[in-house]
Amino acid sequence: MHIAVIGTGYVGLVSGAGMADFGMNVVCVDIDEEKITKLKAGEIPFYEPGLKELVAKNVKAGRLSFTTDLAEAVKRTLVIFICVGTPPAPDGSADLSAVKSVALSLAETIDEYKVIVTKSTVPVGTNRWIKQLIDENKKNDVKVDVISNPEFLREGCAIEDFMRPDRVVIGGESDHAIAIIKDIYRPLYLAETPFVITDLETAEMIKYASNAFLATKISFINEVATLCDKVGADVITVAKAMGLDPRIGPRFLNPGPGFGGSCFPKDVRALAYLGKQNNHPMHILEAVLTVNERQREVTVQKVKQICGDLPGKTIAVLGLAFKPNTSDVRESPALDIVERLIAEGAKVQAYDPIAEEEFKKAKPELPVKYATDPYEAADGAHCLLILTEWNEFRYLDLEKIKNLMAEPAIVDARNIYEPARMQKLGFKYTGMGRGN
Ligand code: UGA
Repeated sequence: MHIAVIGTGYVGLVSGAGMADFGMNVVCVDIDEEKITKLKAGEIPFYEPGLKELVAKNVKAGRLSFTTDLAEAVKRTLVIFICVGTPPAPDGSADLSAVKSVALSLAETIDEYKVIVTKSTVPVGTNRWIKQLIDENKKNDVKVDVISNPEFLREGCAIEDFMRPDRVVIGGESDHAIAIIKDIYRPLYLAETPFVITDLETAEMIKYASNAFLATKISFINEVATLCDKVGADVITVAKAMGLDPRIGPRFLNPGPGFGGSCFPKDVRALAYLGKQNNHPMHILEAVLTVNERQREVTVQKVKQICGDLPGKTIAVLGLAFKPNTSDVRESPALDIVERLIAEGAKVQAYDPIAEEEFKKAKPELPVKYATDPYEAADGAHCLLILTEWNEFRYLDLEKIKNLMAEPAIVDARNIYEPARMQKLGFKYTGMGRGN
């Protein structure tokens, strides 16, 4: 089977390489020439564990290639995956201009039956709109079927998620097209991965509802954590005991500085927008966003509680990425928190294993001193603020850190340390919801 994947961002590249690894012939298309040149040279435009190797393996096997020529790429292919970005527009809706432009290019070029599959997260109704756009603008009298096949990949473990997903969702109207897409995922079907076969709108909604629910879990536990601090309870034990009820489940109940990344904030906003558009405001989602915003301020307040007013203070920030194992800083809590600390008069010395460059690009105006390791960041600092739970921060030489700091104080916004141990080591310490 020949497949074209349009858009070599996160979703497109992981899915393209994954499908090539299943044995398909995949051509990945992008309008960005520089990106394609780099991919052809074996360079991956972002950090994702294992992706470079997976791409190299499948390129070598002759199953994966890259091009900027969309017309040529889709000529040979029965199935076309749309994996372009759908960034948030200022009003919270999803910006579908890239999807529209791909649909119009396809309408120009296709001259035989194609199955067009949307993997990008798109608002409910978009797949039907794509079909209409193509049908109204096509140059040849050909039939197309559209399929919604949302992805559930997490950055940092996207390959594992692609190869061993919890479920595969395929939404469509044509049994023939659904069968073709099911066949692509046959290795997973054989491995007993649950398949949900449904209509277009339901498939689109599954993606938004899943991300919005996960985000709700995070905002919920963040609220509980802040209350735990006020009443002297320990959120870790609370979350553990809550999670023992299988109706709640133990995962995604870790408090922190708030969720970030390119998906949760955008998708929650887009679903809230869809609610408003349909005269059904989603009150829960509005609260999830408000709590997430407030969580940044809660973190800054913790720094102020532990080291007093910020003018004249140096804060060592460990972690800039929105979560570990990624260089992505999109909507990372660190963007807001570092900015607020500086606005309130603090000096910031920051360290992240791989996200420093992305952070600099996102906030070039911030006078942050970037350190080459956690110890350099801690040197002379009045507070160590953990914003991303990179594994390497779990086993720091804390005696050394203590001796380097101007004041031994830690705000552990990811709860990677045990409060009792930190106090024993002589740190003023506060986590999130650990009862202080
Ligand atoms: C998320 C979903 O988990 C994926 O299933 C989905 O496919 C993806 O969005 C997408 O829509 O493409 P991702 O954004 O990579 O994946 O990251 P997550 O691991 O879900 O984490 C999101 C944010 O929540 C991070 O900032 C993380 O630190 C935060 N988080 C997560 C918490 O604060 N507490 C938790 O318990 C879990």
